[in-house]
Amino acid sequence: MDRIRIRGGNQLNGTIPVSGAKNAALPLMIASLLTDDTLTLENVPHLADVELLIRILGNHGVDYSVNGRRENQRKGHSRTIHFSARSIVDTTAPYELVSKMRASFWVIGPLLARMGEARVSLPGGCAIGTRPVDLFIDGLRALGAEIEIDGGYVVARAKNGLSGGRYRFPKVSVGATHVLMMAATLAKHETVLENAAREPEIVNLAECLNAMGAKISGFGTSTIRITGVTSLSGARHRIIPDRIETGTYALAAAMTGGDVFLEGARADLLEAALKTIEQTGTEITRTNAGIRVKRNGAGIAAVDMETEPFPGFPTDLQAQFMALMTMAQGQSRITETIFENRFMHVQELARLGARISLSGQTAIVDGVERLRGAPVMATDLRASVSLVIAGLAAEGETLVNRVYHLDRGFERLEEKLSGCGAQIERISG
Ligand code: UD1
Repeated sequence: MDRIRIRGGNQLNGTIPVSGAKNAALPLMIASLLTDDTLTLENVPHLADVELLIRILGNHGVDYSVNGRRENQRKGHSRTIHFSARSIVDTTAPYELVSKMRASFWVIGPLLARMGEARVSLPGGCAIGTRPVDLFIDGLRALGAEIEIDGGYVVARAKNGLSGGRYRFPKVSVGATHVLMMAATLAKHETVLENAAREPEIVNLAECLNAMGAKISGFGTSTIRITGVTSLSGARHRIIPDRIETGTYALAAAMTGGDVFLEGARADLLEAALKTIEQTGTEITRTNAGIRVKRNGAGIAAVDMETEPFPGFPTDLQAQFMALMTMAQGQSRITETIFENRFMHVQELARLGARISLSGQTAIVDGVERLRGAPVMATDLRASVSLVIAGLAAEGETLVNRVYHLDRGFERLEEKLSGCGAQIERISG
């Protein structure tokens, strides 16, 4: 199993290109199931999760082709991919595949809408909290589906197609918003989704669906209206830059000091996080071409933070922000409101010398003057990259085990960081 070795202490200086967003790419790829035409997606990141979803979609009958090699399409770089679901050959998504990636459960929406049936295994995925699927089930029922749970599978039927309807999410859910929005595009009547997620990835998906002929309005606000159409066509659509990758490297630069330009990053996708990072004493300059992050000399100020649905501070940057706070001057309180049990990185950060105690959903971090390298274990995608950030600032060597978590969500991580002066390398085997 691959590991990552970091020798900490170097400042980061240089340019890091930001990849296409994983969390936008996955639902957009799934949307290809809605049409028998070709959906072309630009800026698809080269990640393990994307490769796995290509396989899962293949099971349902989606063919894909990748544009020929060009300078900007070298191995490991974002690509343009054509997806074509001319006919759906299987409406079952088996446990062996869905358990590897939670987001693959989302195929339930398009399969049900286009085929009138779907049989999708209850998911597994990242070990962060219980992550139930009750909102998907209640929401699809509100749109006219009949649903039962049978042998670990969610079996959904709408023999004469979905009718559409009104659904108010009792809790904001990105995944359930994606699914209900996709399902409603082919329903007979209008659908109104209230308390919907407002994440940029929802907007990216809605814009693509509209380019395919859907009639969706209100996306980006908490009330989304969808007027059903009889069929969707193909389209060409570009995936937004990854705001979590952007925030991760911004936090890495804040942690080590230095001056980094995040090329292609869009500040409007993560304003809350940028403002919080600025409060720590980091200078951030927003430009049309990207975001510049700079911290010279002065120490890191301790700042309290609470995760929230968009436009608040994203839960996917919580672990990375905690890494920064481990070396802040003073105490900070970090509260996780989205997921239970999303603090697995705490004990690993402690192995590097961090002082963190937990009180319910709040982590209390007492900044220390220095961290010291140690072997650590990656437990989930975002937690693992927080260990990388901490390792970049720690004295001596940090060895991050179970790197496959990182490969799920970060394109060419070692290359991007070493390009800015970090001593980081992958040890294979
Ligand atoms: C997506 C992101 C993930 C991010 C999360 C929150 C992708 C591929 N993943 O995950 O990186 O951390 O949004 O921004 O885009 N919930 C229920 N019942 C449900 C569905 C969700 O109780 O039926 C709960 C979850 O357990 C969680 C909360 O709702 O506590 C938010 O989860 P949700 O927004 O659905 O997360 P995902 O879409 O899985």
